[in-house]
Amino acid sequence: MDILEIIRNRHSYRGKYKSDKVPREDLISILKAGLEAPSGCNMQTTSLIAVDDRAVLERLHSVIEPPVGETAPAIICVLTKRIFAYRDRCFAVQDYSAAIENMLLAITALGYESCWYEGHITDEDKIGDKMA
Ligand SMILES: Cc1cc2nc3c(=O)[nH]c(=O)nc-3n(C[C@H](O)[C@H](O)[C@H](O)COP(=O)(O)O)c2cc1C
Repeated sequence: MDILEIIRNRHSYRGKYKSDKVPREDLISILKAGLEAPSGCNMQTTSLIAVDDRAVLERLHSVIEPPVGETAPAIICVLTKRIFAYRDRCFAVQDYSAAIENMLLAITALGYESCWYEGHITDEDKIGDKMA
């Protein structure tokens, strides 16, 4: 697929996933694509944690209510740091958004499905804090 086709083919997937493990080399390629995204003033405020261990996935899913993506064989947790780029300017949200979009496109290019879950875990119930 060329890049424009990959962009066209990327969609949020909320169906059931196959249980096959994602090969580590694919997970690493996806993480690298995320970290190769630009960041404001190159402050690199985004960190990524890929999880493919069943026991850890189950612990994470145990705090996600209502459940989402619970059949996915891997998830990537996106962490951010509110570092000032200059004066009071912080580009952390733009930085992690660029990283996530790069990863979603890499995921599509490698033939997988994905969904960006942010609203669901950062609402008042603070699921993201429990996951952390
Ligand atoms: C910042 C952000 C937060 C999102 N949070 C959620 C979410 O919590 N749950 C969900 O099902 N989809 C979430 N999505 C996916 C959007 O719903 C989805 O991208 C949008 O409906 C367009 O559909 P598409 O991705 O198939 O093009 C989020 C997307 C973004 C960019």
